[in-house]
Amino acid sequence: MSNSIFEDQKEVFLDIVDAKDYVQLDRVTTIYQSLKDSVQKPLKMILVYGRPGTGKSMMLSKLAKDLSDTQKVLIYHTPILDEGEFLKTLAKDLYNIKVSDELNFTRFMEVAKEYTFDKIPIVLLDEAQLYSSALMEKIRLLADTRDIKFVITLHKTEKEDLIAKEHFQTRIWESVELLNATSSELKIYIQKKLMMSNAFDIANMFDDKSAKHIHNLTHGNYRDTNKLLYVLFDIYSWYENNQPTKINYTSISKKIIEMAGLQTGLIHA
Ligand SMILES: Nc1ncnc2c1ncn2[C@@H]1O[C@H](COP(=O)(O)OP(=O)(O)OP(=O)(O)O)[C@@H](O)[C@H]1O
Ligand SMILES: [Mg+2]
Repeated sequence: MSNSIFEDQKEVFLDIVDAKDYVQLDRVTTIYQSLKDSVQKPLKMILVYGRPGTGKSMMLSKLAKDLSDTQKVLIYHTPILDEGEFLKTLAKDLYNIKVSDELNFTRFMEVAKEYTFDKIPIVLLDEAQLYSSALMEKIRLLADTRDIKFVITLHKTEKEDLIAKEHFQTRIWESVELLNATSSELKIYIQKKLMMSNAFDIANMFDDKSAKHIHNLTHGNYRDTNKLLYVLFDIYSWYENNQPTKINYTSISKKIIEMAGLQTGLIHA
């Protein structure tokens, strides 16, 4: 702990994906619940998509954490792009078998058939937009055997909307879309994060108005909001050390939100 009450809150908003920091937000929780329900259905593939910074990786980590008590769950945050490597890694992590030479797809399918689990093992693949369509096709075939269930996240950009529609949607599966937060969700997100680090007084400084200002700059994107708040607390901490009388402890200053917006490039000077 430092002397500054603001300095300590900076790290609350580091861009880190860790299921233990997961914040429950009404709409996100509803989506998460439907994702969890989907996983229990006899679906083969489930898709989580949304623009960058909408919480896909976070939701996948939360799912991995919650499911791991009751079944075999593997999560790959970084795609394994080489097909041989992908299959070998899966064979090792799922069935505990080490393969020294090439493991081709046909052989992998045979191996997968030999192993039975009480519950179908689940493989979570983050950043699925990075897999080649050839490998994606193999993953789909694997899912079709029902020996392995896949949940994949897809980072959606304007261009990739097309992929989501053509390549993925036709073969689905079930999909859930994550969206940016509304202004009131953003307020709750910020307050809950701060309360999780016991910064109750600072959490109370975020009222509807400041949430709205922040929302104007970040459009409710969680990653941009983290970035903005990191810098905001950096600026607050500077004032605390240098001009403490300037700080209004009742609510977050619009001026400081704007300074943080400029510094993070969310406001173009
Ligand atoms: N429900 C949540 N609870 C707590 N933090 C969250 C939540 N959703 C998002 N975040 C925060 O927002 C940041 C961005 O989320 P995340 O990395 O999951 O986005 P993403 O959709 O995977 O983005 P990308 O497409 O760029 O991979 C995370 O580092 C995390 O701090
Ligand atoms: Mg991600």
